[in-house]
Amino acid sequence: MAPDSIDPLHYRRVLGYFPTGVTVITACTADREPIGFTIGSFASVSLDPPLVGFLPMVTSDRWAAIRDAGTFCVNVLAADQGDLCWRFAKTDVVAPFEGVNWRQSAVTGSPIIAGSIAWIDCSIDTVVAAGDHDFVIGRVLQLEHAPPEQTPNALLFFRGQLGRFTGHD
Ligand SMILES: Cc1cc2nc3c(=O)[nH]c(=O)nc-3n(C[C@H](O)[C@H](O)[C@H](O)COP(=O)(O)O)c2cc1C
Repeated sequence: MAPDSIDPLHYRRVLGYFPTGVTVITACTADREPIGFTIGSFASVSLDPPLVGFLPMVTSDRWAAIRDAGTFCVNVLAADQGDLCWRFAKTDVVAPFEGVNWRQSAVTGSPIIAGSIAWIDCSIDTVVAAGDHDFVIGRVLQLEHAPPEQTPNALLFFRGQLGRFTGHD
């Protein structure tokens, strides 16, 4: 079937049946301003060497700023951080970090958002053009998860809605 026969709305609806976790990918600009945007297309890529990836739209202003920074930190959101998911997805929020508790990572200085269940600090390794998105591959420099005894739960995105993970008995 020719690719141009795929209806965009149908494409989005079908792909919405694939559940994802929710991350906020952050960086600090040269003038030390924190930036970040919500990304669901995060994936682990390689263990040796340690690589992860995500796919931002080529037109994204925030991706352009992160590309300039050359480094980024992936913040995996907790089930109770749905407000951050929407706040960092909107383009009209002037200061999305206002009121958000964060610190700079030791290696790249990228924001680590308090309450994230895991974070992965990276340098940009490779950028591959992929249609209207770029496939960004990051070299993992440092990473950590929340203490397991805090039983953190992940924020999930499925069919346009946020939810949380429920394990089978
Ligand atoms: C749950 C969720 C997942 C998202 N995942 C992606 C993604 O993987 N890639 C992407 O380009 N935008 C994604 N977005 C949209 C971005 O957060 C953002 O709105 C968009 O890239 C516009 O950014 P800009 O202001 O830099 O242009 C997602 C939004 C939500 C709510």
